[in-house]
Amino acid sequence: MAGNMEDTRWSLRGMTALVPGGTKGIGCAIVEELAGLGASVHTCSRNEAELDKCLGEWESKGFRVTGSVCDVTSRTQRETLITKVSSLFNGKLDILINNVATTIWKPTVEFTADDFSSMMSTNVESPYHMCQLTHPLLKCSGRASIVFISSVAGVLAVYISGSGSIYSATKGAVNQLTKNLACEWAKDNIRVNAVAPWFIRTELVDKTLFGDEKVVEAIISRTPMGRAGEPKEVSSLVAFLCLPAASYMTGQTICVDGGATRATEAEPEPEPEPEPEPEMAGNSIDRRWSLQGMTALVTGGTSGIGLAVVEEFAGLGATVHTCSFNESQLNECLRHWESKGFQVTGALIQLTKNLACEWAKDNIRVNAVALWFVKTELTKPIFEDNKSLEAINSRTPMGRIGEPKEVSSVVAFLCMPAASYITGQTVCVDGGLTVNGFAFP
Ligand SMILES: NC(=O)c1ccc[n+]([C@@H]2O[C@H](COP(=O)([O-])OP(=O)(O)OC[C@H]3O[C@@H](n4cnc5c(N)ncnc54)[C@H](OP(=O)(O)O)[C@@H]3O)[C@@H](O)[C@H]2O)c1
Repeated sequence: MAGNMEDTRWSLRGMTALVPGGTKGIGCAIVEELAGLGASVHTCSRNEAELDKCLGEWESKGFRVTGSVCDVTSRTQRETLITKVSSLFNGKLDILINNVATTIWKPTVEFTADDFSSMMSTNVESPYHMCQLTHPLLKCSGRASIVFISSVAGVLAVYISGSGSIYSATKGAVNQLTKNLACEWAKDNIRVNAVAPWFIRTELVDKTLFGDEKVVEAIISRTPMGRAGEPKEVSSLVAFLCLPAASYMTGQTICVDGGATRATEAEPEPEPEPEPEPEMAGNSIDRRWSLQGMTALVTGGTSGIGLAVVEEFAGLGATVHTCSFNESQLNECLRHWESKGFQVTGALIQLTKNLACEWAKDNIRVNAVALWFVKTELTKPIFEDNKSLEAINSRTPMGRIGEPKEVSSVVAFLCMPAASYITGQTVCVDGGLTVNGFAFP
C-alpha cells in the first residue's frame, strides 16, 4: 500500500458512524467501506434475523460494527436509536449516513395520499429528523460529516412504469436539504454532502427492474459507461466524503452514474469481465483505494495545486509524469521527489488534453474539480490583503480558503478504481461557496 495511505487524511480510524439500513444493498457496502477504513459503525434495519447474520459476518471480517432493530419511519424508534448511539459513542458522532428510502413507481394520477405520505415520511421526514437528533453529537465531533444517499432521480426526471414523481421530489428535497445544512452547520464543523446514484445492482433493483430485459437494455443504452453500477462504487464516494481528505467539500450533490446525467445518447458497451473481489479485512484498505501500478500525467506539477496533485498521486503509489516551463523549478522538484522515494519524471513541455464524456466507450473517465480560492502562489496577493481575505471568508460557509492538499485529495480520489462509476462530474471544492445563497444575520 502506498505511503500516503498512512496519512490520516485517508483514514477513518478512531471515528464513529451511524448508517441506517446497513443490512443490504448500498447501505451494506457503506458499512463495510467505513469499517474497512477504520471507523466504528452502528447500523439498523427492521429485520432482526438479517441484522444478526450481518453482524456475525462483519465480526468475522474484523469490522467494528454494532446494530439495532429500528424502523426509521417511526419517530419514537428514531429517538431510541439516537439515545443508543449516543451512549455507545460517548455522546459524540463523526458520521451520519442517511441511507434508507422507499419508492413506488406508477403514473402520477394513480398515486394515493398514503403513497405520498409514506414516501415523504421515509425519504424526507426521517432523514431530516435524524439530522436534528444527531446534531448535538455531530457538533461534539468537531470534524463531522453527513452524507445523504440521494438519487439521479432527484436531479433528472426518471420515469419507470409511468412515473416516479414522488420519489424524485423526495430526492430533490434531500439535495436542497444538503445545501441548506451545509451552510447552516459549517460553523459547527459539520460538512454535508449528497451522493446521487444511477441504477445500482442491489437486491431491490435486481428483483424488480433487472428482472425485465427490456428495462436493462434501456438503462444500458442510456448510460455512457454501458452498465449499471455496483454498491461498492457508491460506498467508496460516500466514504471519501467522510474522510479528512475531503475537508473542504460541503454542500455538493455528486452523481455516481456512469455518465448518465451528462449524456443525451450513449453507445452501449459490453459488460466488462468482473474483477476478483479484493481482500478487505480488519482495518486494511483494499486496492481500490490505491493508485499502485497506475501511471499519471499531471501538467504544471511544480507548484501550487499541481504540485500537491503530483505528491498525492505519487504518495498513493502512482508513477507520475509532469511538465513545466521552468527548468530549475522542475529539476528542484524532481530531486525533492526522488528523496521522498516518489516515482516522478518530468519534462519541459506543456501538454493539454481535452477529454470528453463520449470517451466512456474507450474506458476513459472524465471529471472536473472546480475550485474556490486555494492558498497557492497564484492567489497569494489576494489572501495577503486583509480586506479581500475577509470578504472571501465571510462569503464562504466554512469561513476560510482552501489548501492545495484539500484539492489534490479529490483529484486523486477521482482517479482511483474506487471512483470507477463516476464520470462527467464537476465537483466543487469550495467550502460550500457555490451553494451559499444569502444569509441574513
Ligand atoms: N439501488 C439503486 O439503484 C439506487 C439508485 C439510486 C438511489 N438509491 C438509494 O440508495 C439507498 C439505498 O437503496 P438500496 O437499493 O441499497 O436499498 P435496499 O437494497 O432495499 O436496502 C435497504 C436497506 O435499508 C433497510 N431499511 C429499509 N427500510 C427501512 C426502515 N424503514 N427502517 C430501517 N431500515 C430500513 C433494509 O433492511 P430491512 O428491509 O430489513 O429493514 C436494507 O438494509 C436509498 O436511499 C435509495 O433511494 C438506490
